[in-house]
Amino acid sequence: MAAEGLLAAGATVIVSGRREGDVAAMAQALSAHGPCHGIPADLAAPEGAALLIRRLRERTDRLDILVNNAGTSWGAALDEFPRHGFDKVLALNVAAPFDLVRGLLPLLRAAASAASPARIINIASVDGLRPPSAETYSYSASKAALLMLTRHLAARLVAEHITVNAIAPGLFATRMTAYMFDPAHPRSGDRPSIPMSRPGRTEDIAGAVVYLSALAGSYLTGVVIPVSGGIATIA
Ligand SMILES: NC(=O)c1ccc[n+]([C@@H]2O[C@H](COP(=O)([O-])OP(=O)(O)OC[C@H]3O[C@@H](n4cnc5c(N)ncnc54)[C@H](OP(=O)(O)O)[C@@H]3O)[C@@H](O)[C@H]2O)c1
Repeated sequence: MAAEGLLAAGATVIVSGRREGDVAAMAQALSAHGPCHGIPADLAAPEGAALLIRRLRERTDRLDILVNNAGTSWGAALDEFPRHGFDKVLALNVAAPFDLVRGLLPLLRAAASAASPARIINIASVDGLRPPSAETYSYSASKAALLMLTRHLAARLVAEHITVNAIAPGLFATRMTAYMFDPAHPRSGDRPSIPMSRPGRTEDIAGAVVYLSALAGSYLTGVVIPVSGGIATIA
């Protein structure tokens, strides 16, 4: 959704994900909207982030916008919640964005200026703003951590003309949330109630990402924009 918006706004986009075939297919499909390339990498471990950073640096010497979107969740009853469910979620949702920011700073610095800062956009969640009803303890904790990391990095990087902001999506129909839209699924009740009575659409995320990436969004740093139809803002 974010890539589609950025391509429509005229950016050249590089997408990533774990599997080479899926990434190539995604880049190919998105190429209908503009120049799009794919670099596969598994960000679960630091070696994967290092590989993505290396391949990006081979391809370009500047990066205008970094969108940290990869994320995962874990649901289990409190009494049974495994330690592994914390390690896995924190590694991808918090440590990987940090690894990518650190490793890509030279490219971001090369694109940054007072007139047009480089942008880091972290995809957090409303679950980092208020406790969700679902038993996804490591996920909510990871997204709250990502929001603080956003502010901390924003403070550190403001003098270098790099903005760091976050988007907190509400409910969007994706692979991660497919079970909430399946009434037969035992955990479909995890689905939050939405004040605007509809899930988010592509243009809702795309619009927020493009705003934060555009000249119009260049005077914001350290903020979180909930794109949630009212979840965590009025309910
Ligand atoms: N959907 C919602 O309602 C919602 C709400 C709030 C926040 N979010 C956030 O939005 C972001 C995107 O999630 P989504 O809803 O689009 O879920 P999704 O369909 O499950 O997508 C997750 C994304 O993360 C990538 N990913 C997962 N594990 C990875 C790994 N180890 N290494 C590299 N990439 C990995 C996936 O790529 P591959 O599978 O191809 O590797 C995919 O691009 C996440 O940060 C999520 O927390 C979503």
